[in-house]
Amino acid sequence: MTPDRAPTVQELLTFYLEAGVDCALMDEPVNRIAEAGVAASSGPPQAVAVRTAPVAMPAVRTEAAPAPEVAIQSAREAARTAPSLEVLRAMLEQFGGCALKSTATRLVFADGNPQARVMFVGEAPGRDEDIEGLPFVGRSGQLLNRMMAAIGLDRTTAYIANVIPWRPPGNRTPTPQETQICLPFIQRQIELVNPDVLVTLGNPSTQTLLSVRDGIMKTRGRWFDYDTGSRVIRALPTFHPAYLLRSPSYKRLAWQDLRAIARALQG
Ligand code: URA
Repeated sequence: MTPDRAPTVQELLTFYLEAGVDCALMDEPVNRIAEAGVAASSGPPQAVAVRTAPVAMPAVRTEAAPAPEVAIQSAREAARTAPSLEVLRAMLEQFGGCALKSTATRLVFADGNPQARVMFVGEAPGRDEDIEGLPFVGRSGQLLNRMMAAIGLDRTTAYIANVIPWRPPGNRTPTPQETQICLPFIQRQIELVNPDVLVTLGNPSTQTLLSVRDGIMKTRGRWFDYDTGSRVIRALPTFHPAYLLRSPSYKRLAWQDLRAIARALQG
């Protein structure tokens, strides 16, 4: 059915958001309707025009990112000198070596108690986290809250962070370079929190932090040693809550992992 009026900007933005288009990748929106010689105000847009209408998304700050090797080296040098979590966070706010920063809304550093005995680490923030500036606040975060509650934990007794502290655009998988650039910061974060138990959530976090190649089906529920540089702590991979939302039958195994975490914290 042909609409009897042109959609409002609000309706178009809602349409784009629902279709997963939620960030601009260029400095300025491009008016492709004008380019194609179609007047934006001349009645309902055609299908093609709707797909390519100008999007009034916030302009993106673009700073030329350094070459990955340079960025990795400067991340290593910076992160190791951070004497506290506050300084580490401030360093990340200033860090210009990761291009993800320019498409993200804000830094997602951590949530929870830095004195906690257990630290959970996911992959990267999603849309909800990017908006709030806190890790695991969307649907998978709600499941993580329930998983923690099942063993008597909450955000006052656990610390939560991600390997990557900026949301990749459209929730795409972070590139290996982006991961390597961010790695020194999460490694220093773990060292500063110094938990008794580190829980890696899902494959990317497990493989990156524990330097293993096996997939999560093989690594989950197995204890690893994680050397912070100052101390060796126990690390347990388990399923990412987002995976459990898609595959609830694995919650049974996740429950075993949670009980193992609880036992380790009692010991
Ligand atoms: N998935 C993650 O890995 N981290 C978050 O913070 C949210 C979803």
